[in-house]
This record gives sequence, C-alpha cells and structure tokens, in this order.
Amino acid sequence: MKQELVEQFENYDKIRQEIKIARKFGDDFSLEKGQVAEYVNRLHPPQIKLRVSKIIEETVSTKTLRLTAVNGYLPPFQAGQYISLSVEVNRVRTGRAYSISSSPSQTGYYDITVRRVENGRTSNFLLDKVKVGDFLQSSGPQGTFHYHPILHQKEMVCLAGGSGITPFMSMIREITDRGLPRTVHLFYGSQSLDDMIFHQELSRLSEQFATINYIPVIEKPGPGYNGNTGYITAEVIKATLGNLAGKNFFICGPQAMYKFCLPELDKLGINRWKIKQEMFGTPINICEYQGWPSEIKAQDRFTVRVNGSKSFETSAGEPLLVALEDNGLVVPSLCRSGECSQCRIKLVSGKVFQPEGTPVRKSDRKYGYIHACVSYPLENLEILL
Ligand SMILES: Cc1cc2nc3c(=O)[nH]c(=O)nc-3n(C[C@H](O)[C@H](O)[C@H](O)COP(=O)(O)OP(=O)(O)OC[C@H]3O[C@@H](n4cnc5c(N)ncnc54)[C@H](O)[C@@H]3O)c2cc1C
Ligand code: FES
Repeated sequence: MKQELVEQFENYDKIRQEIKIARKFGDDFSLEKGQVAEYVNRLHPPQIKLRVSKIIEETVSTKTLRLTAVNGYLPPFQAGQYISLSVEVNRVRTGRAYSISSSPSQTGYYDITVRRVENGRTSNFLLDKVKVGDFLQSSGPQGTFHYHPILHQKEMVCLAGGSGITPFMSMIREITDRGLPRTVHLFYGSQSLDDMIFHQELSRLSEQFATINYIPVIEKPGPGYNGNTGYITAEVIKATLGNLAGKNFFICGPQAMYKFCLPELDKLGINRWKIKQEMFGTPINICEYQGWPSEIKAQDRFTVRVNGSKSFETSAGEPLLVALEDNGLVVPSLCRSGECSQCRIKLVSGKVFQPEGTPVRKSDRKYGYIHACVSYPLENLEILL
C-alpha cells in the first residue's frame, strides 16, 4: 500500500510508536512474516502428487490403492476425511472423492479403497487402468466427517453401507493402533458376505478389542451364517445396544441408506443433530427427489451458455458439473456432493434444481450462486465460471 495513504490512517503515529516499542523489547515478529502461510500450506496443501505403491484386492469389486507422496511428505489427516483425486478419463478431466481407509497413525501412506460402480467413469478407471508405479494428482485431506472430542461422546454408533465402510475403517484402525479411549459400535449392511469389505479384519479387531463392536447385517446371507439379516433397522440397533443414551451416530454409504436409516433412527428418538452423515456422491435418480418438477424428464435437453460465449446442450438429469467437464471446462471440485462449496458458480439466468438440504449460503442464494455438482438444469441457462 502506498506510504502516503497509510499515513492517513487514524492513529498512525500511535501505531508507529507501538511498533518501535515492540521492536525494542523483542515482541516483533516481522522476521517470521510469511511463516504462518507456509505452515498452513504444509498442513493443507491444495495439491499432492501421489504414487501408487501397492494394490490390494479386497473383494471381487473392490481394491485398495496404497498411495505414497512423491516428495516424501504426506499431510496429517483426521480419521474419516477424504482426498479428491483428479484424473483424466477418455480425455475428460474430472475428480472424485475417496475416504482414506488407513489409520492416521500410518504417516507413510494413504490407503483408498475403491468399489466398482456400474458404468462409473472414475471407479472403473482406478480399478482397471491404474497400476503400481503410476502417479495420481490429489487434493490434501478434506472433510468434516470425523470424531470431534468436544462435540461427540466417547461412544460412536456407526452405520455403514457398501463402500461407506472406508471412513469407519480409518477410525477403527486409529482407535486400535493408538489404544484410544473411544468405543465404536459398527453396523455394516451388505447384500452378501462376499461383498463385505474388511470383514476378516473387522471380525478379528472386534474379538481382540473391547472398544470395537462389529455387527454385520446381511441382506442375503449364505448357508451357515447366524448373524443379523435384512437391513439395519431400529429393532436391530435397539436389540444390540439397548440403552442409546450418551451415544453419537454416524452414517456413511449410498443414498439409499439415508432414506432407510434416518427414519429408523427417528423411530428410536435420536435427535437429527446427534447424527453425522457423509453422502457418497451425487443423487442417483434426481427426478425421484422431493421437489423435482414432474413436467421435466431426465432426458429433456437444455442449452448452457458459459461466460457469455461458449454454449453446449445437456440433459436435465445430468449434474451441471459433469456437463461442464464433458465439454472441456474445468471447475474446481472436491466432494461432488454439495458440501464443500468448491464448485460454486454464478447463475446469470435460468432455473436449476438443487436437492433439499444443499448447504448453499443465504447470500449465495440471494445473489444467484449455485453448487454445480448438485445443480440440474430445468431451463436454458446462462452461467459465469
Ligand atoms: C466424501 C466422499 C468419500 C467417498 N469415498 C469413497 C470410497 O472410500 N470408496 C468408494 O468406492 N467410493 C467413495 N466415494 C464415491 C466416489 O467419489 C465416486 O462417486 C464413485 O467412485 C463413483 O464414481 P464414478 O466416476 O465411477 O461414477 P460416475 O461416473 O460418477 O457415476 C456413474 C453412475 O453411477 C451412479 N453412482 C455414482 N456413485 C455411486 C455409488 N457410490 N453407488 C451407486 N451408484 C453410484 C451415478 O449416479 C451415475 O449414474 C466417496 C464419495 C464422497 C463424496
Ligand atoms: S464439489 Fe463440493 S460442493 Fe460441489
């Protein structure tokens, strides 16, 4: 800032005097200028270059990729956080979030555990194309789906479905590695025993540690299985745990799980503020969401005009972020489920559908900002990136 302008500040002389005194008595930290930013960047780097050091087959449809840092340094993370991988698949640059499944006590690597999604762009690429020795670009660890010592009780009831087991695996591994005074009751719902990721390890840890209570719930069990069957219902939770006071609830998995489990927790009288959720991706059938206008069909086509120049056509059932990426436009993104605000863009004209509960700021709503990852065109749109 120009010196003459600074001198016009109210109390400028007094501030100068304070600086003089601070320098004289050693309270002057001007030499450390910039160090805070450097430290913050070390803990929260926007980008990390990772190398695939090992691939572990977990189930027929799931593999764990062990990732090490190319520069030898991985920032610390909280068990339950995710990284967002940036990949180029069939000439389209895109990103996807994957929870870290290893324990934060393992400082040399991050494990991510990827389950195949039918026709899924990134999961199929990671499972079929990526090999040991390949490099991947990632964000630093992100997200708030983790235990918080001030907000949460020491007893956690965790409900997982499918690949939603991954953040809980990291939490459980940390508790057992470090002997933390925290208990996890893990209800893990799956279609079949073969589909369950980490089943052997979870069964072993549950036998070995009083702090880990593993309760598989299998929809279609094979012969010889004598555990819980069907879904994670209010009855199963109540019959297993009895008294639910003093416990916090965590849910992670595909959207169908929330639709089913939240009403079950309501039946048990659990307050919604006691339930923490992590949604694994964008809604699958957006047209079935509450509030979707019945006259619009998923395949209806609309034009999107970007920054007053480039235009393309897309379908109502496609998230705007995916349509932008398919048209070669890169928008920053991390969670791709409406949570992190990275993909905020300005809607100049037209109307989009955003599922209820998308956490868009009040001021963003007022001035027309939307989260592209969970916005679906209902009319022709004009946007600014
Ligand atoms: C915070 C966070 C953490 C995550 N952690 C993991 C993890 O640890 N392991 C993991 O395997 N995945 C995880 N995911 C999901 C992951 O980010 C991708 O969404 C998933 O791999 C599918 O991406 P894709 O590119 O293969 O599919 P896309 O090409 O994006 O989708 C193809 C089709 O499949 C549907 N679809 C997308 N995701 C799913 C799903 N999960 N189940 C069923 N249908 C789906 C889409 O609606 C679309 O119709 C996480 C997501 C979030 C937001
Ligand atoms: S990428 Fe996180 S809100 Fe869209």
